[in-house]
Amino acid sequence: MNPSRHFALIPAAGIGARMGAACPKQYLSLAGKPMLMHVLDTFAESPLIEHTFVVVSADDGYIRDALASASLPDKRVTVLFNGGETRHQSVLNGLHAMREQAKDEDWILVHDAARPGLTGELIERLVSALHDDEIGGLLALPVVDTLKRGDAEGRAERTVAREALWAAQTPQMFRYALLRRALEQAAAVTDEASAVEALGLRPRLIEGSPRNFKVTLPHDVALAELHLKGNS
Ligand code: CTP
Ligand code: MG
Repeated sequence: MNPSRHFALIPAAGIGARMGAACPKQYLSLAGKPMLMHVLDTFAESPLIEHTFVVVSADDGYIRDALASASLPDKRVTVLFNGGETRHQSVLNGLHAMREQAKDEDWILVHDAARPGLTGELIERLVSALHDDEIGGLLALPVVDTLKRGDAEGRAERTVAREALWAAQTPQMFRYALLRRALEQAAAVTDEASAVEALGLRPRLIEGSPRNFKVTLPHDVALAELHLKGNS
């Protein structure tokens, strides 16, 4: 029997500078609802997830309306108004705030609000692959393009072998105590796995999906909608 539970932690305190929209990108409407609500609904609908915590900035003026317009059962999500300066800090603040609810051995799935293409099937794939893992892991995609290292003049200096290279996605799933320790000790990191790697541990790579890409630039919006409407 495995007594540990699974919690989702969604960093959603960014401003979406590269998107350059009128509101933070996680609140842009995609296929009929805010980007963040796609993510919250997916976790709320997953029978594997005990509860979801979403970290927004202290002065977030959008989350209440977004939640009010949703069909989401309230009980399954807690909003934390303690986002930090960086994603790293927002996740750490979220972990501190959920201390009362999570036990050291519970699994935490950290997932970007900016990846609305996540599905229940992908959550299931990650959770089942890692259920008895010592360390944890993340969804990621094997790199398929030929990779070039560019020089200062924008010329290809050399070709980098793509074998064994993966592009990291989220969720990234680690046990509460390990994740917290890793993020507390890490210098600036852009994902949880890097912090765990810095402890000398090797997170497992579980194949994700192209539809789970991170919505970053204005041209990403149309592609995200295509996936969300088509349910592909
Ligand atoms: N994030 C966060 N706190 C921050 C910065 C980012 O919680 N201080 C969250 C974002 O809301 C997003 C996820 O981390 O869900 C991934 O970050 P990114 O895609 O870089 O979003 P932004 O930082 O908002 O975008 P940009 O870098 O273009 O400003
Ligand atoms: Mg950012």
